[in-house]
Amino acid sequence: MLIPNSTSMVDDGYFDSSPLRNDGPSTHATSTFIVANRLPVEWQAVSGWRPSPGGLVSALEPALKNLNAVWVGWRGSPAPEDSRGPRPTRPPRTDNIAIIEIPMTKREVVDFYDGVCNTAFWPLYHEVGIAPVFCDEEFEVYRRINQRFADCVARSAPAGAPVWVHDYQLQLVPALLRETRPDLRIGFFLHVPFPSPEEFETLPWNENVLDGLLGADLIGFQTASSAERFMAVACLHASVRREGNSLLVSEPTGTRRVTVGVFPIGPDSERFSSLAASPAAQESAARIRADFDAPELILLGVDRLDYTKGIDVRIRAVADLLKSDEFKGRDIQFIQVAMPSRSDLTAYQHLRATVEETLLSANAELAALGLRPIHYVYEAVPTEEVVALYVAADIMLVTSLADGMNLVSKEFVACRQAGDGGLVLSRTTGAAAQLHDAWLVEPGDVADLTRGMGEAIRAEVDETRGRMERLRQAVFTADARHWAEAFLARLNKAR
Ligand code: G6P
Repeated sequence: MLIPNSTSMVDDGYFDSSPLRNDGPSTHATSTFIVANRLPVEWQAVSGWRPSPGGLVSALEPALKNLNAVWVGWRGSPAPEDSRGPRPTRPPRTDNIAIIEIPMTKREVVDFYDGVCNTAFWPLYHEVGIAPVFCDEEFEVYRRINQRFADCVARSAPAGAPVWVHDYQLQLVPALLRETRPDLRIGFFLHVPFPSPEEFETLPWNENVLDGLLGADLIGFQTASSAERFMAVACLHASVRREGNSLLVSEPTGTRRVTVGVFPIGPDSERFSSLAASPAAQESAARIRADFDAPELILLGVDRLDYTKGIDVRIRAVADLLKSDEFKGRDIQFIQVAMPSRSDLTAYQHLRATVEETLLSANAELAALGLRPIHYVYEAVPTEEVVALYVAADIMLVTSLADGMNLVSKEFVACRQAGDGGLVLSRTTGAAAQLHDAWLVEPGDVADLTRGMGEAIRAEVDETRGRMERLRQAVFTADARHWAEAFLARLNKAR
């Protein structure tokens, strides 16, 4: 039976209704299925529905504009525990995307999202010195939630449909889906870095994860180094051998080919460009500069408050730069936006305290020298306001310690229509593989950060403009739509 009609999405008696659907104009008959932990919108009791955070959603949603897509995901907050209570509001309609919602209880959110996803996989895959915590009971919940996603797709997808599974939260879905729906074309894309084989070896569930991923026909990574690391790990498996960029997996029914590819993600460059050109963004940018009393230069950082982003090291480096003999006579404003993220987790609470302590002491030193304090914003700033900041700034600082891609760097470039502005970019972001014309820096090294920032500030106008022109070429030729089209075209041919 290729299309089981009785698979239950509800594996534990929870939420005894069909999945919440908010079908847009698509019919599932010709749809591409997107399977991601988060829906494009999240529900928060205080603020209602709003766009979901993070690079995955911001790149994926615009890439689906011309596809007839069904998006299977979670609303970002627990569903009401009592199924006899009022049904939660449905997600708002999204153009051309039909939504199927996967519910999670509070307990599941703690074990799956806070636990395995963000206390085990996230630190393990980024390798920035935060020790992952492994808990077998939580992994059972991870397995259950992955099964819930797989069952939902198995029940809804038409024969032969392309199914595109995303990121570290859903690594078991490809194999679980293949068990019941071998007819589907299953693609998986990892948005974060894949760890070194030594690091992956420390994961108690590494075999499960490998088996899960190898259920896909196509596995995509942001960078060649992640793809190579994955293939090295997969080839340690007795039943896998490499043939070029494919893995041949021996199964009782024969040999199956899994294609591995590199697909660097991009932003919706045209959207950012037209938002930046809008009178509203231009006026807000002028207002920002005026509100800061027209500084000579604005340096900008925009990140989720995450320990992978290197925010505290960046603050120290900027403070050193501003205090240096060369720059202390200049009128330079640094603005750092830190968007709240995963704030129920201890590591993120500690990080916030560290960043804010670093900021306080940096500002005390700057004040003692009569220099501008660093302006720090801790809130979820809407895209339109971030764009105004991109336009107002002179130099963007993206200094992540590790980052699958980092879309902020590319969004900034897309917004620089005047062809000016400098980008200081960490070598350890996926973006560094495409944005060679940024001022590249070692993100953990304060001295190297100040070197890179100093060079960006000192550069002659011609050099800055030349670099920005080449950066813009890179960002407009490889945007979100190209990324999705390239992945889905390869998925079509993957068998
Ligand atoms: C990164 C991850 C995404 C994740 C996003 C936001 O971009 O690759 O999978 O959705 O961060 O994180 P959150 O935990 O809020 O979903």
